[in-house]
Amino acid sequence: MQFQGKKGLILGVANDHSIAWAIAKRIMQQGGVCGFTHLPDRPDDDRQRNRRRVAQLTDPEENAAFLLPMDATKDEDIRTVFDETKERFGKIDFMLHSIAFADRDDLARDTINSSRDGFKLAMDASVYTLIACARAARPLMTEGGAIATMTYYGGEKCVPGYNVMGVCKAALDATVRYLCYELGPDGIRVNALSAGPVRTLAGRAAGVDGMLQMYEQIAPMGRNITHEEVGRTGAFLLSDDSDGISGDILHLDGGFHAMGTPGRLLYRVKEMQDQLGSQQ
Ligand SMILES: NC(=O)c1ccc[n+]([C@@H]2O[C@H](COP(=O)([O-])OP(=O)(O)OC[C@H]3O[C@@H](n4cnc5c(N)ncnc54)[C@H](O)[C@@H]3O)[C@@H](O)[C@H]2O)c1
Repeated sequence: MQFQGKKGLILGVANDHSIAWAIAKRIMQQGGVCGFTHLPDRPDDDRQRNRRRVAQLTDPEENAAFLLPMDATKDEDIRTVFDETKERFGKIDFMLHSIAFADRDDLARDTINSSRDGFKLAMDASVYTLIACARAARPLMTEGGAIATMTYYGGEKCVPGYNVMGVCKAALDATVRYLCYELGPDGIRVNALSAGPVRTLAGRAAGVDGMLQMYEQIAPMGRNITHEEVGRTGAFLLSDDSDGISGDILHLDGGFHAMGTPGRLLYRVKEMQDQLGSQQ
């Protein structure tokens, strides 16, 4: 029960596939109490689909304290959520930022063709939101705390197809290091979890389906990661068990990031070449 007596915020649950939900479930299983946010619904959406999808997950959970709407690109939404969090929790111990967004058209374009407005929107939603939410969380982390965000290897190396989101993740990784420095004296740690491909809403939009097979072939462990693994490692970064770790990008990808060549996939290519050669 590594989260017994701990309270915090989970930002970025859209549905039961969301990485944020996997991490929140683990935290709540370990005794932690979580406040949640969801993307606001359009006023003309009578069915309030965003809220409903998250509420059906959080409502049955005893350790889910509240669910509030928040568009993290809006300062007034952030203010309302953190005021309410202060009211409900007093102080917080952890905050998960699991938020990214880019317009589909911009995600699909080569980086060189990114639109100016699409670039600004992607950076605002995927990077600045970490800065804004960390600033709002700081006064609530009166006894120190842990902040974690979700990143991807496409910010360290060129992963064709990840496009503008790769540039956002590079900026997010740098943001983690600067926030780690600035919040260190307050006893607040800031880390990022770099996950391999996982089937989620955002993951699908970023091309995860086409990547799963490649990861299976190239990752030293020869398989993809699971939601449960993301849940455990994300919770670890937000728990006291990682209390000496800050400013880190922790890779959870079966070892994919350690490879300098396509590894065992090369044997496959050679096999195919040999087969083609023997047919000719
Ligand atoms: N799925 C993967 O393969 C993978 C791999 C590595 C990193 N990540 C990262 O994990 C994080 C979570 O994504 P996911 O894969 O769980 O998908 P997801 O779609 O379930 O989560 C993305 C979340 O971002 C939220 N969001 C988007 N714009 C927002 C805004 N303006 N304000 C508030 N919330 C907003 C969405 O509501 C959603 O809850 C993202 O940062 C993503 O880049 C995903």
